[in-house]
Amino acid sequence: MSTEPAPTHNASLSPFPTDDPVLSLIGDTPMVDYPGAERGRLRCKLESENPTRSMKDRIAMGILTEALEEGDYDTVIEASSGNTAGAVALVANRLGLTCKLTCPEHTSRSKIGYMKAFGAEVHTCPDVESDHPEHYRAVARRLAEEEDNAFLVDQYHNQGNPTVHYRWTGAEIWAQAGAEMTHLVSAMGTGGLLSGSARRIKEEANATGRDVQVVGVDAQHSNISTSFYGEEAVPYNTSVEGLGKGGELPTMWFDYIDEMRSVPDEVAFEQARTAAQKHGLLIGPSAGAALSVALDIHTSQPDAHVVTIICDGGEQYFDTLFGI
Ligand SMILES: Cc1ncc(COP(=O)(O)O)c(C=O)c1O
Repeated sequence: MSTEPAPTHNASLSPFPTDDPVLSLIGDTPMVDYPGAERGRLRCKLESENPTRSMKDRIAMGILTEALEEGDYDTVIEASSGNTAGAVALVANRLGLTCKLTCPEHTSRSKIGYMKAFGAEVHTCPDVESDHPEHYRAVARRLAEEEDNAFLVDQYHNQGNPTVHYRWTGAEIWAQAGAEMTHLVSAMGTGGLLSGSARRIKEEANATGRDVQVVGVDAQHSNISTSFYGEEAVPYNTSVEGLGKGGELPTMWFDYIDEMRSVPDEVAFEQARTAAQKHGLLIGPSAGAALSVALDIHTSQPDAHVVTIICDGGEQYFDTLFGI
């Protein structure tokens, strides 16, 4: 009898093939019609179907796989209050790496839950200004310097972040919807997801003499739009997790983004609630922000075929979305 592990799903588009039964669950996410729109004209790429329920599993997988090919690392370090932390914890667990994560004090219990569940060492840091030596990103840098054979992921600067989405997420979206899509809409934080996916989709579309309009979404006070349009920054202030961190970053490839739209926090939360309560789709507030923009395009442009990326699922936001 064969001892080869049975493939768990069709991972043919993954640039990071693996025999690991858990890591092989990353990617190859479904795309479904949004039930609140005209059939076939607004489709949701459900990144919430990844093992830690967000698209950050892909960058953790891609960046760490390539790091191990290039260096003899035994520890991985990252600063994150969000989905990247849980994703790095999971992938490090499966790759046999020690994982050290730093996060600010206000980090939600569910996010810390993912980190600890997979055995990461969590360093909770005070909520101080970003130039303070105890800021969680400074602490991560220090840990990486002090530790031998440690790899710092650094999702805010690492070009591996958008590049993984160029090679993987964008290729999947094109395979699922390339024939008809006219618009790609997604929330932006580091910008990695939309930048990489957009570049891939524009290249594929241009090769067939077409174009796909790429629309980035941020919060009204998260300053990606202001950077994109060269306007003065506003004080950073949003409760929507994952939307911007106050300006342009090297992981934002603005050349592949046509337009930015800013969404009020209340609209992002309300859209996420509607998706669950009326349509049975459990999504996070940043996906709610993107969905509200996707619905605007769907309604105002009758010929549009919109794809929006559901960055994460709603289970981490039962408290903020539903008061549970
Ligand atoms: C919930 C959520 N939505 C959207 C984003 C934005 O993704 P990216 O950083 O690739 O722009 C993030 C990133 O942290 C996120 O956690």
